[in-house]
Amino acid sequence: MASPRHFLTLNDFSAGELQALIDRAIEMKTEHRAGTARPLFPGKVMAMIFEKSSTRTRVSFEAGMAQLGGHAMFLSPNDTQLGRGEPVEDSARVISSMVDIVMIRTFGHDIIERFAAASSVPVINALTDDYHPCQLLADMQTYQEHRGSIAGRTVAWVGDGNNMAQSYINAAGQFDFQLRVACPAGYEPASALLDAYADRVQLVEDPREAVAGADLVVTDVWASMGQEEEQKTRERAFAGYQVNAALMAHAAADALYMHCLPAHRGEEISAELMDASDTVIWDEAENRLHAQKALIEALLNAAA
Ligand code: CP
Ligand code: NVA
Repeated sequence: MASPRHFLTLNDFSAGELQALIDRAIEMKTEHRAGTARPLFPGKVMAMIFEKSSTRTRVSFEAGMAQLGGHAMFLSPNDTQLGRGEPVEDSARVISSMVDIVMIRTFGHDIIERFAAASSVPVINALTDDYHPCQLLADMQTYQEHRGSIAGRTVAWVGDGNNMAQSYINAAGQFDFQLRVACPAGYEPASALLDAYADRVQLVEDPREAVAGADLVVTDVWASMGQEEEQKTRERAFAGYQVNAALMAHAAADALYMHCLPAHRGEEISAELMDASDTVIWDEAENRLHAQKALIEALLNAAA
């Protein structure tokens, strides 16, 4: 059997395929709201493996599969053999023999790579320590809906050089924008990634320098899942990296700001921006549903 198509990073799809996914997500959103969407995948089953917490990712994949006419099952390490040391490859072989598509949220990116290599069905990265590509689909959809194509625009990442920042680096290449990353020393994205995208990505320390004239400003929590014990150290390191109205004053006049959520008001983003009536952050969260339905459709059709 040919190996299935996976979505472990944005680079698993071509730029053209990613743009088609965004366009399709917008179409599916319209159909969903109009009540004209059809259940395209009756009987298809998704296994959702969560080794970290989630609200948006779980709800969007589970609701998405139901809306497509299929079913999603939640699997956690607490009540499966995954948490008792069954090898990743054995789990992948068995689970993929019974379902049509798998979604995994885990720690090391190598875990999802190993799972995918042993899986007979498509595997979607629902967040690893290194990447969160599904969130980028929602973010790119949201930008396009509000401002049109992001190609040729400037995006500022302010904060930790984490899984979201690294997915924005991939997105800079795939969606053809310039990215300025403002991080405190010691919290930069992986140097190999920065080197590979040197023509697209500029690393600076001063958030104002990153945001100057930017069309989109993005941030995320200072301590990601798995880094909870570093919270206090990180609060000190990231002081001065809050996205707030004063920082946004340096961006383009019609600049958007985004946050994948969950957010900590008063830390990486001000309460004022979170609670602004014109923020697109809630659209960004909702678009996880539509973008991932487009992704599931593409992967299931490729596997058919
Ligand atoms: N943005 C995001 O992935 O949220 P959850 O952790 O709630 O899934
Ligand atoms: N960087 C965050 C994203 C949460 C959606 C984390 O990994 O916890």
